Amino acid sequence: MSELSRLALIHHTDKRDHGYTRIYEQYLEPIRTQIRNVVEIGVNAGGSLHMWREYLPQARIWGIDINPECKYYEYKNVNVFTGSQTDEAFLSKCCDEIGSPIDMILDDGSHVNKFTIKSFHALFPRLKPKGIYIIEDLGCSYSKIDSVENCREVWPGMKLNGPENMDNNRVDMDEFFKKIITGIDAESNNIASIHFWKWCVIILKGDAK
Ligand SMILES: C[S@@+](CC[C@H](N)C(=O)[O-])C[C@H]1O[C@@H](n2cnc3c(N)ncnc32)[C@H](O)[C@@H]1O
Repeated sequence: MSELSRLALIHHTDKRDHGYTRIYEQYLEPIRTQIRNVVEIGVNAGGSLHMWREYLPQARIWGIDINPECKYYEYKNVNVFTGSQTDEAFLSKCCDEIGSPIDMILDDGSHVNKFTIKSFHALFPRLKPKGIYIIEDLGCSYSKIDSVENCREVWPGMKLNGPENMDNNRVDMDEFFKKIITGIDAESNNIASIHFWKWCVIILKGDAK
């Protein structure tokens, strides 16, 4: 078993079960010791943050979650910010606090399409050149979000989003991806490529500052 998959298993995140760890290693293994700052939206029980903490020896790991109880999972070089991925001012404050360039941002938060898109627009500009932006669990973007794995019970923070936000409209994601695909290489976008994998997408930033 690969190292990242082993750590996912130990720390009880489902990133191995979904096949993500195998995918991520293809990007991360060659730069593993160079990564300094990772932001993950969606902390839940802290499993993935602690997986990253062990896998990336030089990195600070920054979690973002709407559920204040997630602060409990702070430990050593793992920090957790409390707030919503829809709050641009809050996200900007988090990045200011992080201070230095962000190597990788991963959205495993609400999986509400319009929230995912809002966070991308707020955070992608804060990613360093050639940085990695990952959006997980794209299967959710086809469904009414509270029908997915009973997520309003399994992830307590979901209740803080309000029931009016639970309807996902696939068209939102299609439009979002269309803009990225048609804008690749455009100077204003600074997106180098977009890679679709099973259940997740990886967007690589260009090398412009
Ligand atoms: C799938 S769980 C995260 C799992 C974790 N990344 C792991 O792999 O161990 C989703 C998390 O997103 C959080 N969340 C839901 N809505 C959010 C929002 N609007 N902003 C930030 N976090 C949110 C939930 O509280 C929950 O903890």
